[in-house]
Amino acid sequence: MCKKIINGINARIGLDDLIENRLKGYRIPKETNVFYTLGIVALFAYMLQAVSGYFLVMYYVPHPDYAFSSTQTIMNTVPFGWLVRMVHIVASNLMLIVLFMHLLSIFIMGSYKKPREITWIAGGLLILVTLAFCLSGYLLPWSQRSYWATTIATSIPTALPPVIADFIVTILRGGENVSAATLNRFFALHVAFLPPLFLFIVGLHIFMVWRIGLSTTPFGNAAEEETWTEYKRADYKSNYPFFPNFVLKEAFMISIFLAITFFIISFFPTIFLPGAANTPADPLNTPAHIKPEWYFLAPYQMLRLIPNKFFGISIQIIFVGIFLFWPFIDVKKERNILKRPLLLGFIIVLLAAWAVLTVWGRYS
Ligand code: HEM
Repeated sequence: MCKKIINGINARIGLDDLIENRLKGYRIPKETNVFYTLGIVALFAYMLQAVSGYFLVMYYVPHPDYAFSSTQTIMNTVPFGWLVRMVHIVASNLMLIVLFMHLLSIFIMGSYKKPREITWIAGGLLILVTLAFCLSGYLLPWSQRSYWATTIATSIPTALPPVIADFIVTILRGGENVSAATLNRFFALHVAFLPPLFLFIVGLHIFMVWRIGLSTTPFGNAAEEETWTEYKRADYKSNYPFFPNFVLKEAFMISIFLAITFFIISFFPTIFLPGAANTPADPLNTPAHIKPEWYFLAPYQMLRLIPNKFFGISIQIIFVGIFLFWPFIDVKKERNILKRPLLLGFIIVLLAAWAVLTVWGRYS
């Protein structure tokens, strides 16, 4: 019976050809390390977010009078609702960590260089869209923490000249303050605007990776001699099949991701859901200490330290621009960062500054 179904599918879509030529025939450079699987882990995390999100939307009500109580119903009454919500919360944070590691490994291995500039820019846009997902999702529970953190985040554009600032803040909040209109906007952004945008950019990103082929590492003998002037698919001196070898590596890393997610849910459930997240929003009662989430702490602390807010926000916008177009700024052919001490020093200082600002922002 099973064989009959497979034969039937084979006759229609050429399953054997698909597996032999497109999957087994698709070659991966031999010396790829675990860091090459992080993109797929990030993609898996995104799918987990989408699936858990669909279930949450069945019970969540985007209205200030019901938003908080509907999340409490999900946690306390809906069968396995607590599990679905915890997966959504924990996996979103882990996804950001995976994304950051993906970005860092690409940077260190110089994989953004020609011909992969578009892949990098699409990836950079994906980080921005992911942060927009986090920001918009954060308000939805309408807790004291989410209400006030969003009030701070949406007030950041006020550092810009008044005309632009008023325009952006009104667009974001749908009025002067964070209110029912803001909740509706953020909900629409989170479940309707951002997902198709993400899918479009991720499609472009993965199409580029597939079309060009994975880069080889720039370390040791394996350093790839890519002196492309026009398109050609990378062919590697030593290689192995995408399926099943590389797919198994990816499946292994995905299971580690899942194991960490469930470990945190089981043993540290309050890490990403502290007390203030369990108190309903009170717009008339400003809490003493309001902090954004950990991934926004560094830019937040930087803005607090720079007295001229316009200057502070301008630096950050310029920084994002440099990040997005980095492959066109760093056009040197050398991909091995160990042979580029200046760039290595720069990235270490940048990471140290990020860590210091994050800790400072958290405890100041
Ligand atoms: C949700 C976001 C993202 C997803 C789902 C994703 C997915 C992937 C996948 C599946 C690959 C191929 C395998 C691998 O190297 O891991 C890849 C490669 C790549 N990604 Fe991403 N990525 C994301 C974000 C980013 C970001 C933020 C950047 C950098 C700004 C980036 C830059 C690249 C580059 C340059 C490659 C090619 C690597 C090579 O050829 O060796 N990606 N990505």
